[in-house]
Amino acid sequence: MANLTGPQRARYVQTMFSQIAGRYDILNRLMTGGMDVRWRRDTIRRTQLQPGERLLDLGSGTGDLAREALRQQPAAQVVAADFTLNMMLVGKRHGPLPWLAADALRLPFPDHSFDAIVSGFLMRNVGDLPAALLEQVRVLKPGGRLVILETTRPTRTPLWPLVWAHLHIGIPMLGMLVARKGSAYQYLRASTESFLLAEDLAEQMLRAGLGGVGFQRRMMGTIAIHWGKK
Ligand SMILES: C[S@@+](CC[C@H](N)C(=O)[O-])C[C@H]1O[C@@H](n2cnc3c(N)ncnc32)[C@H](O)[C@@H]1O
Repeated sequence: MANLTGPQRARYVQTMFSQIAGRYDILNRLMTGGMDVRWRRDTIRRTQLQPGERLLDLGSGTGDLAREALRQQPAAQVVAADFTLNMMLVGKRHGPLPWLAADALRLPFPDHSFDAIVSGFLMRNVGDLPAALLEQVRVLKPGGRLVILETTRPTRTPLWPLVWAHLHIGIPMLGMLVARKGSAYQYLRASTESFLLAEDLAEQMLRAGLGGVGFQRRMMGTIAIHWGKK
């Protein structure tokens, strides 16, 4: 599962998020102890979104980042895009947003369309990470900001036993109890452990042509917010 690439990974990811869509938000809150709300706030702050600017929330799921962007900057033009219909349908219940069905690897926008692009827990799911980054850089305006909130491969710190227990026991158990889909949350663990180190994602962002790249780790080093500028 976590080692699938290309269209096979896309199909697996789409099916999985379709199945857990109804429980996704509550599981997110439980698994992060509600901390994801703060990470989303910080992710949007990093975009320094100005009135009238265009922001894309890519892999928006139920749209929490898009909503946070509008909360912080009500005069911005925000688009929420995802390739799993069920996630957007659940998101619609939380209120209106300009939704769009789109694949992160083939964005339906001309070059230089957005002032800022954010994604939350998307990038480890895409079948081709360098291509997804290049596609986002393509649709960013010159000077546009890219901010990524994502799990990151944890390093072995003294907190490692806690991190291990959270990933191997806490998350799959919550997935089983709340979503009745332990396998989906085994995927979360496996995709986190096999994803890039925060330093390597920063390197990939540089390779995609972004400058001013930096990152901050959160939650015992299992989460990171990365940023860069076109
Ligand atoms: C873990 S959820 C994150 C949802 C939301 N961004 C959040 O912060 O809670 C990942 C989302 O990315 C979407 N996704 C995965 N691969 C995608 C792709 N290639 N194109 C568009 N969306 C994708 C999934 O459908 C899912 O809704």
